[in-house]
Amino acid sequence: MLAAGILGYTGLSMKHVIDAGAGAVITKSMGIEPRTGYPNPTVVQTDCGLLNAMGLPNPGINNFKGEMKELQKLEAPTIFSLYGFSVEDFAKVAQAAVEIGAAAIELNVSCPHVKKAGAQIGSDPTVLTKIVKKVKKQVNTPIFVKLTPNVTDISEIAKASQKAGADAITAINTVKAMAIDVETGRPILSNKFGGLSGPAIKPIAIRCVYDVYSSVDIPVIGCGGITCWQDAVEFMLAGASAVQIGTAIAFKDLNVFSSVNKGIQAYLERRGFNNIKEIVGLAHKI
Ligand SMILES: Cc1cc2nc3c(=O)[nH]c(=O)nc-3n(C[C@H](O)[C@H](O)[C@H](O)COP(=O)(O)O)c2cc1C
Repeated sequence: MLAAGILGYTGLSMKHVIDAGAGAVITKSMGIEPRTGYPNPTVVQTDCGLLNAMGLPNPGINNFKGEMKELQKLEAPTIFSLYGFSVEDFAKVAQAAVEIGAAAIELNVSCPHVKKAGAQIGSDPTVLTKIVKKVKKQVNTPIFVKLTPNVTDISEIAKASQKAGADAITAINTVKAMAIDVETGRPILSNKFGGLSGPAIKPIAIRCVYDVYSSVDIPVIGCGGITCWQDAVEFMLAGASAVQIGTAIAFKDLNVFSSVNKGIQAYLERRGFNNIKEIVGLAHKI
């Protein structure tokens, strides 16, 4: 799947990703109202990933309807990533997303750089429970909860999500981080701190997927630093039933989707596995 926030702004960009081999696409996180996001600089390239604090810029859910025209005839589902500042926000935006064609909803309760949304919600099992329950009641589509690694115990948050009715857990969003310019002596991002993605965070994401897989019975979707098929297989061995790719598109190109697909297929054949299900969570059985 295409991870949220990377090329998920327009119907056409998501169509390109599907044509390149993604099994599903996830939109940029959207809220009820349009949001400009933060002033630049919003992205910093680091040695082994990207550091971003975009501030959730998005057109607002009701202005996204037209983009769905590009995606209607395609087989790959469009999953809507959604954020909100309250339980009611989440319910409203979920309802609107379903009305314009969301096949599933991924609740972004894990953005590390927007106050009172994102990670602040996803670090509090009580608030998270209220949101998941309300959204489940509001709409009939599957609900994924995307978790932040910036917590002491990710298993506790995953368990609360499952108990509240989540259909799957996505792990992980970016890792809270910072960069400072040595000449100006100031933080580079206008928001000062942001979220780190790409290969730098892969071992953290693998550990999170491993922990979440051992604590819940719903599927886990792995995300964080995947750039090649070996990374995708590693996530599956840790417990992921599917994976998402984001930053690798910036460092490589859209061919990453087909090369990961082909690589997984070849690995399964070479190792004598019949399908992906046989390797999901295998690292736990040893
Ligand atoms: C520029 C940028 C924007 C992002 N925007 C979102 C977003 O809107 N919603 C969200 O849930 N995650 C967002 N993410 C996080 C990614 O979906 C993903 O969880 C994270 O980057 C780790 O995966 P990766 O290493 O494959 O990029 C963003 C990441 C980047 C680099």
